[in-house]
Amino acid sequence: MVRILITGSNGQVGSEIIEFLKKTTDCNILATDITQPKEQVEGVQYEYMDVKERVLVESIFKKFKPENVYHLAAILSATGEKDPVVTHNVNSTGTINILSACVTNGVQRAFIPSTIGVYGPETPKENAPVDNYSLPTTMYGITKVTSEMLFKYYHSRYNLDVRSVRYPGLISYKVEPTAGTTDFSVDMIKHAAMGKKYTCYLKSDTRLPMMYMPDAMSNTMKLMYQDTVKRRVYNFMSYSTSPGEMEEIIRNRIPNFQVEYAPDYRQAIAESWPASINIEDSVNDWGFNCKFDLEKTIDDMLDHYTSPA
Ligand code: SER
Repeated sequence: MVRILITGSNGQVGSEIIEFLKKTTDCNILATDITQPKEQVEGVQYEYMDVKERVLVESIFKKFKPENVYHLAAILSATGEKDPVVTHNVNSTGTINILSACVTNGVQRAFIPSTIGVYGPETPKENAPVDNYSLPTTMYGITKVTSEMLFKYYHSRYNLDVRSVRYPGLISYKVEPTAGTTDFSVDMIKHAAMGKKYTCYLKSDTRLPMMYMPDAMSNTMKLMYQDTVKRRVYNFMSYSTSPGEMEEIIRNRIPNFQVEYAPDYRQAIAESWPASINIEDSVNDWGFNCKFDLEKTIDDMLDHYTSPA
């Protein structure tokens, strides 16, 4: 039984990873967060852990002795702009605390996601290269570039097998995202399914890289199960889409769906990111592939909201 420690376990990605690991692996999971889980998964242990608290982190690692770690606790882009110091403390200090605890406790492999937020206005808008364009203008992006540099440092200095992916906007329904710039995608589909009008905080033609959660999970696990990897950080993306394109696809299914556009501060964040990113290394190195295009994603999401399992 693999001993797996998860941080940020109640979040959009954490809640899905627990379910995925439970279904696919013989594992003993310790799920940690600073809030209580809404529902507890049978057979999973839950514990309070604030990743900013180094002594607490070390003691929980020492007690549980994880072999694998999924460090998902982070403040996302939109919330990140509200308090840069808190964002830095959670994202950068939290990450170095986890990396350090991995080394002192002999963790075999760690997964720590990065984001399209590492890119900035100087990045080519289309097919953004994996390397050399990480000059973000958001606090979230700055902390994630720092984290990516820490992964390389901990790997070369301590031989820690830390793996990362730059997630695009993730579309999912289990735990809805509430703190990012790409969350309009989930919110729009949910409003449509509930027969409500949606007010979008981005302009209709703002294109961003996106992906459906089942593809994010299967590819994350595929990367984690490779014996060796050539890079510490890989790009993830299924499709590049905009609120306007999503609105049109949804309206083909729900003809009276209405969207109003009222861009706010998140427009500037979105405009600082590329519309699409290069995934060649992920495809060539370990076979990244996605089953859901945008239409299939929207259909599956609508099905879930209109007839939940
Ligand atoms: N979904 C994230 C955000 O919008 C991007 O990685 O903050």
